[in-house]
Amino acid sequence: MTRPAAPWKLPDDWYPGTVPSNVCVSEPVYLGTSYSFHEYRSRASVGLRMGRGASLDKTVLDVGPAGRVSLGECAFVSSARIICDLEVEIGDYALIGWSVVIMDTYRVPMNMEMRRKALARSAMTLERRLESAGEARPVRIGRNVWIGFEAVILPGVTVGEGAVIGARSVVAENVPPFTIVAGNPGRVVRVLDQ
Ligand SMILES: CC(C)(COP(=O)(O)OP(=O)(O)OC[C@H]1O[C@@H](n2cnc3c(N)ncnc32)[C@H](O)[C@@H]1OP(=O)(O)O)[C@@H](O)C(=O)NCCC(=O)NCCS
Repeated sequence: MTRPAAPWKLPDDWYPGTVPSNVCVSEPVYLGTSYSFHEYRSRASVGLRMGRGASLDKTVLDVGPAGRVSLGECAFVSSARIICDLEVEIGDYALIGWSVVIMDTYRVPMNMEMRRKALARSAMTLERRLESAGEARPVRIGRNVWIGFEAVILPGVTVGEGAVIGARSVVAENVPPFTIVAGNPGRVVRVLDQ
């Protein structure tokens, strides 16, 4: 695992940014663009870990100060959005389809007065961002999982090994290994052979 001493630039990057120094990778990995880090604020010792052969492209990492994201070996994430204030773990050989949202926190307070205050605070800052409100719960995507396009994985969910999530599903509960879960709310529609 390479641990860089300073932020680094990607070759041929269209975005004029850098990859933060707490991003640790096991070469070879594919990182499409440093634009993935424009909302990344992790100050954890390792904020993003990428296993050997992992690929992250056109994906926004909206990671709060204590957030930690990990991609296993040959995990493939394309055009997704990962919102992480605590921990999002994506297992080996997991395939995350385009426009998938994986979140370990809602960021937005349920209480109306707190929501108003959060919006007022955001209005006073140049970044116009809502920092974490309330509890974050880790999300774990198991090995060999396939998540179809535009699916949403909500805080606290564990998706078991080898499961498949249908396109545009909303997953609020744990998914048993080797099942297909689809719909909103996501339900088991079939059990897969192992
Ligand atoms: C989940 C998926 C792989 C299942 O495919 P399948 O095995 O051929 O499943 P079936 O078409 O036999 O569907 C089984 C049941 O689940 C339902 N279902 C399947 N996908 C669904 C979805 N995305 N949302 C809601 N229901 C769904 C079907 O209506 C069917 O219900 P029924 O038994 O009541 O008739 C597929 O539907 C899917 O969503 N693929 C995503 C592909 C994708 O995102 N590719 C690009 C990104 S990598």
